[in-house]
Amino acid sequence: MSTPELTAALERIPGWFWPADQRLFEWFLSGGAQGDVLELGAYLGKSAVLIGAHLRQGEGFTVCDLFESDAPDADNNAETSRSYSTLSRQKFEQNYLSVHDTLPEIVHGPTSIILDHVKADSCRFVHVDASHLYTHVKGDVLAARAVLKGDGVVAFDDYRSEHTPGVALAVWEAVAGLGMAPICVSSQKLYAMWGDPVPVQRRLLEWLGTRADLWHTTDVLGDRELVRVNQRKKPKAAGASGAAAGDLDRLAAELRRTTAELRKVTTESQNTVQALKKAVRDVSLLGPVAHRAAGWLRRRSVSRK
Ligand SMILES: C[S@@+](CC[C@H](N)C(=O)[O-])C[C@H]1O[C@@H](n2cnc3c(N)ncnc32)[C@H](O)[C@@H]1O
Repeated sequence: MSTPELTAALERIPGWFWPADQRLFEWFLSGGAQGDVLELGAYLGKSAVLIGAHLRQGEGFTVCDLFESDAPDADNNAETSRSYSTLSRQKFEQNYLSVHDTLPEIVHGPTSIILDHVKADSCRFVHVDASHLYTHVKGDVLAARAVLKGDGVVAFDDYRSEHTPGVALAVWEAVAGLGMAPICVSSQKLYAMWGDPVPVQRRLLEWLGTRADLWHTTDVLGDRELVRVNQRKKPKAAGASGAAAGDLDRLAAELRRTTAELRKVTTESQNTVQALKKAVRDVSLLGPVAHRAAGWLRRRSVSRK
């Protein structure tokens, strides 16, 4: 499936998975060594559908969600019934199968049971997007650390939203105390690993340099650096089409200048025409008077002779 087809399919599925993160997922999932993929929190399948499109031969994909079942505690229950009341496993499966031929492995239950289903040291990518409560996210961090291979990458959703302080606490706690190394952030997600992030960041920056649709910069984070990525508001055209777009821009500017000059010339000629009309009017009013004066002067000079 091509990227535009996949993007169109994703647009039909409700969820919170924005274009900058879609591109970053594609990049992370397209490289690196062989390994399985895990998603904690699938909702209606928006991110799962994209992940499923990047599985390679022999790689497994597991998703874990409560779907319509009860959460393990009252706070988590309040969270899910407030935000995901229309969710059902059937709707997830329908959406996933509208794009892919087979379903991923589904763990229908709380993320706290995921280590009973996914082997340690088996995954190359984990997406943590389930509960936003600290206790659960802390457990998800530990599960991600256990299942990830050495150079595997974990993506955390909602690491900085006002309404999800529990995610922020668990994520930065892992950075400060559990050796988790951030690679990059978007406005929605933080991407990290337990290996050395510097070579990954170098490759990421090279790739970002080729992307007209993504804006990026590098921020200082203590004694390391953090890449920051966002969607460009208006994509900058690149390559041959970029040159054509540049020519078009120049032509449009030229056209605007010419139109302004024409307007100025037209106004000036309208003023001249008005002045001429007024002069003609004055002359025609003065004409008979001047004619009489000339006759009087002529007669006067004849009588003097
Ligand atoms: C933000 S949504 C996931 C969005 C999805 N990744 C996407 O991009 O469309 C969070 C999901 O986590 C699930 N969830 C909440 N608490 C959970 C828990 N303790 N265990 C497993 N799933 C949970 C909810 O049912 C919901 O489907």
